[in-house]
Formats: sequence, C-alpha cells, structure tokens
Amino acid sequence: MSDVLGEQKRYYAERAPEYDDWWYRRGRYELEPDALARWQADVAEAEAALEGFAPGGAVLELAAGTGIWTRKLVRLADRVVAVDANAETLALNTPAAKLVQADVFSWHPAERFDVVFFSFWLSHVPQERFDAFWGLVRSALRPAGRVFLIDSSAGDKAHTGTDQEGELETRTVADGRAFRIVKRRWEPDELADRVRPLGLDVDLTMTANGSFLVGGSR
Ligand SMILES: C[S@@+](CC[C@H](N)C(=O)[O-])C[C@H]1O[C@@H](n2cnc3c(N)ncnc32)[C@H](O)[C@@H]1O
Repeated sequence: MSDVLGEQKRYYAERAPEYDDWWYRRGRYELEPDALARWQADVAEAEAALEGFAPGGAVLELAAGTGIWTRKLVRLADRVVAVDANAETLALNTPAAKLVQADVFSWHPAERFDVVFFSFWLSHVPQERFDAFWGLVRSALRPAGRVFLIDSSAGDKAHTGTDQEGELETRTVADGRAFRIVKRRWEPDELADRVRPLGLDVDLTMTANGSFLVGGSR
C-alpha cells in the first residue's frame, strides 16, 4: 500500500497544472450541457453547505491541493493552515493561507483548530489508514472543534478513473501516463456509521444530482 500512496502523491504532483480543469470542467474534463448543469448545481450546493456550516476561527485544511476550497475558507475563517504533500499543488494555492508541505499520513499538528476541513481527500485514504487518519483529525481539533468534508459520492456517475479494482483505481494525466491511486466512494450513512465509533458525529448528505458527499459535525 505504501507504494500506491507514493504513486498517488506523484499523480497529484504531475496533475497539478491540469487539476482545476476537472473542477471547472474544461478541456478533457468537459461535460455535455445537461451533465454540466447537474455538476454546477451540485457544486453550488456544496459551496452553500460550507457557507452554512460557517467555518470560523482557526481552520486546518488537509490535502488542500491547488486551493479551490482554500480560497473560500480564507474568506470565511480568521486564518487557515493548508497542508498538502506536494510543492506543485501548493505553488498554485493561495498565499492567504499558511501553506505547509507535509504528508498527512505522518504529519502531526503543532496546534489545535476550530475546524478541520478536507475535500476530495477521504476517498484517497485506504482502509488500513482510515482510523489513524481520523485520529489525526481528532488530535487537531479543539474540544468543541468541528469537522467538515466534501468528497466524491458513491452516486457519482461521472467517474474520471478507469480500472476500478477494490479500493484502487488507475488514473491518467493529460500526456497519458498512468498512476494507481486509492479511491473509495462512501455512502453518507455508511461513512457516518464508520466514524462514530472513532469519536466523531457527522451529518452527511449526497448533493441532489449525486456528485458529492457533503457535511460535517452535527
Ligand atoms: C483530489 S486532490 C484534492 C485537492 C483539494 N482538497 C481540492 O478539493 O481541490 C488530493 C490532494 O491530496 C494531496 N495528497 C496526496 N497524497 C497526500 C498525502 N499523503 N499527504 C498530503 N496530501 C496528499 C495531493 O497533492 C492533492 O493535492
């Protein structure tokens, strides 16, 4: 598994310059008009859910990437610490956050936060690291701290990967190079039930068109 996690890290380093094309549905990630309208409605729903959650105070963002959500968090919170393993993604993130290059599987927070946020990250956490990852989340939270997450949902019909095999998937970058990554799409209740014994009570929903899993602490 550590080989795959290394490959997954490299995949996102190589994909950094084209990453936002997926979110904004440009180039090879373009969608037909109907599918695009559904995607955009789900994006708006996810954005509204985050605004409704009101992530104030000090926010930790894990696997922050190019900053699609970091740029929203810095508007909503007092300050944001954004961690990602790759210099290539962080170079495209916003200087309005404190950017930290570190591997989430070995990093330990030096302070506690009001909110821990991660988007399109949990689905890349393999089963064998799942409990330890949530241990990191808990250890980063102040006593009344809250968690919020956004991810691909099990209802997502527009998968960008191929060759799904167990929790592994093969992805390609624009030049055709292929990488194995972890990709586990959760159902809302299934995930809430899985994290409750780990000490976190989360309320999750699927966006109306099934693209995303969204939610956070009750
Ligand atoms: C699917 S992207 C999500 C980026 C961002 N959260 C977003 O929603 O746009 C996954 C991110 O995880 C980062 N990453 C991969 N392996 C990592 C690791 N072991 N520790 C920290 N970040 C990692 C990648 O560099 C990439 O930016």
